[in-house]
Amino acid sequence: MSLLGQSLLNIEKLSTTEIESIFDLTRIFKTEFTKKNSLRHLLGGKNLDDKVVTMAFFEPSTRTRMSFQMAAFRLGMRAIALDNLSISSISKGETLMDTVLNLNAMMPDLLVVRYGVNEDLAESLKSSTVPVINAGCGTAEHPTQALLDAYTIFEHRGSIKGAKVLIVGDVLHSRVANSNLQLLTKFGAEVAYCAPEELAPHGEKWKAARKFTDLNEAMAWADVCMCLRVQKERHPQTSVGLISAEYREKYRVGNAQLKVFKSDGILMHPGPVIRGVEISSFAMDDSRSRILEQVKNGVFVRAVLLAKILGIEVRVP
Ligand code: NCD
Repeated sequence: MSLLGQSLLNIEKLSTTEIESIFDLTRIFKTEFTKKNSLRHLLGGKNLDDKVVTMAFFEPSTRTRMSFQMAAFRLGMRAIALDNLSISSISKGETLMDTVLNLNAMMPDLLVVRYGVNEDLAESLKSSTVPVINAGCGTAEHPTQALLDAYTIFEHRGSIKGAKVLIVGDVLHSRVANSNLQLLTKFGAEVAYCAPEELAPHGEKWKAARKFTDLNEAMAWADVCMCLRVQKERHPQTSVGLISAEYREKYRVGNAQLKVFKSDGILMHPGPVIRGVEISSFAMDDSRSRILEQVKNGVFVRAVLLAKILGIEVRVP
């Protein structure tokens, strides 16, 4: 099914053909932007400044929020953001659902929403009259991050099929890991994880994933290592203190792990990185690190999604 006029709330929604088409266009956008420092020549002279993307972020964000905005600007669209919640009417008691319904009533062309656990909002987004892109919801899904991660793997290897992808750290609370698991396995990657018991995933979807207890063994196995931040804000009080010396000793990717990691492997992280906790500064700067390339790819993947959903014709040179 085409994305035209559709919402993107989860990975399941996307067929492999649609994802391949997103990757094709992402490669074109990135190549053309690298050559011309602009994407406008791909739009056949069309002026898109009547298109307005409204962004509502109810959880913190740097990369996702800024790259959606960057993507909209690069296409010549306008993006407006409700992100200073202390001066919004949420501080007066208005619910997130009502806030989004009001933003929707202003008839933007597209809504980008990030939120935590909120059943009412989740339900109302499903029936939105304006297409919605999920920019991360609770521990459940982060489809655009999974797309840019998978694209980064595809770009490096030429294919996702057969890639051994290791996810390290707080898998239990990671919407990034959940969306990646679905997308990567759809394309025939082998997904494994290495996490302390308290942070190991227990959902049905993870049953088939290989579990490593020893990080060095896992790193020697992997083609791709995806590190995750320990998401303390989603932990119950009892697990405060998990980022102990013991955690770093067992789950931080550092020198010892770099030594056993394949020479053509890649290191990834969705950000924000807490240097020295889940990955060492040294490892972040390793030539195999693709962390900033992921961020770059995020702009192009998101520009492609805006174009596809809004039905913008792209002229491939
Ligand atoms: C992540 C998120 O918000 O899910 N970051 C991102 O969107 N790039 C990961 C995190 O917060 O640790």
